[in-house]
Amino acid sequence: TGHLISAADLSRDDAVLILDTAEEMARVADRPIKKLPTLRGRTVVNLFFEDSTRTRISFEAAEKRLSADVINFTAKGSSVSKGESLKDTAQTLEAMGVDAVVIRHSASGAPFRLATSGWIDAAVINAGDGTHQHPTQALLDAFTMRRRLLGRDAGLGRDLAGRRITLVGDVLHSRVARSNVDLLHTLGADVTLVAPPTLLPVGVETWPCEVSYDLDRVLSKSDAVMMLRVQRERMNAAFFPTEREYSRRYGLDGDRMAKMPGHALVMHPGPMVRGMEITADVADSERCTAVEQVANGVSIRMAVLYLLLGGNEPAVTHTRPTAA
Ligand code: CP
Repeated sequence: TGHLISAADLSRDDAVLILDTAEEMARVADRPIKKLPTLRGRTVVNLFFEDSTRTRISFEAAEKRLSADVINFTAKGSSVSKGESLKDTAQTLEAMGVDAVVIRHSASGAPFRLATSGWIDAAVINAGDGTHQHPTQALLDAFTMRRRLLGRDAGLGRDLAGRRITLVGDVLHSRVARSNVDLLHTLGADVTLVAPPTLLPVGVETWPCEVSYDLDRVLSKSDAVMMLRVQRERMNAAFFPTEREYSRRYGLDGDRMAKMPGHALVMHPGPMVRGMEITADVADSERCTAVEQVANGVSIRMAVLYLLLGGNEPAVTHTRPTAA
């Protein structure tokens, strides 16, 4: 069984195959009847130990569009509150005949443990683990960039070679940033991180990207600027510049957006903290792809489920998490 644990596990060809398959899946979403019979008779569990809106709902939509049987599990309201372990929870689900587990967990490494422990035989898909990885987010972001920058048909079979992508904000706590840096590097893009020094992780100098502290200098040289959510819930107050200082130096407002090239995208994985990392006028502008990213997430998750469960498996392996 293949798994998808980390964006770092994907080769360039794996990633392009997933992006191309997602374009095929998007054509299904354009039809009046949005369903394929591909996963009929297969059971997928969405195992969410941490809150989610976009990822949980889009996985469920993707599974239903592929005709899978879907079981939704959230830790809140389950026997996890009585002290049941991840192992016992997983084996309870396995006993019900599960083919794939989509897992979100606050602990970095939980999906890796599930995939490699021998507790279950099902395919494991990481839907976000702690500060480690969120591979389907990086894939839907790359899909959005390729479509917008290269074109829907012209992009097929191609990567993002030479495109300049800037990620701004709370890199320290961001699994989205880690997954994006890994995948964008694999796809040939030039990535720059912009963040306050206190919100960069130890060892960032070994990542395959540049680091800058000056957003205004980087904006005019970017094909896409991805704003990261400031994750106050994972943060010790001492880490943080004041909110006003943060917005002034690292927030994207209309004046800053005007410095970007005309074709450049404003991206955000959601949920957005309006007024902190992005102003409402920028979030609501034509250039902001946040809502489009959510729609593309369904196509990407259909592609991943199809390739792992229904089609030819890409060479997706697993890597022990090293972040945080
Ligand atoms: N982008 C993202 O992972 O959003 P959710 O936490 O709402 O799933």
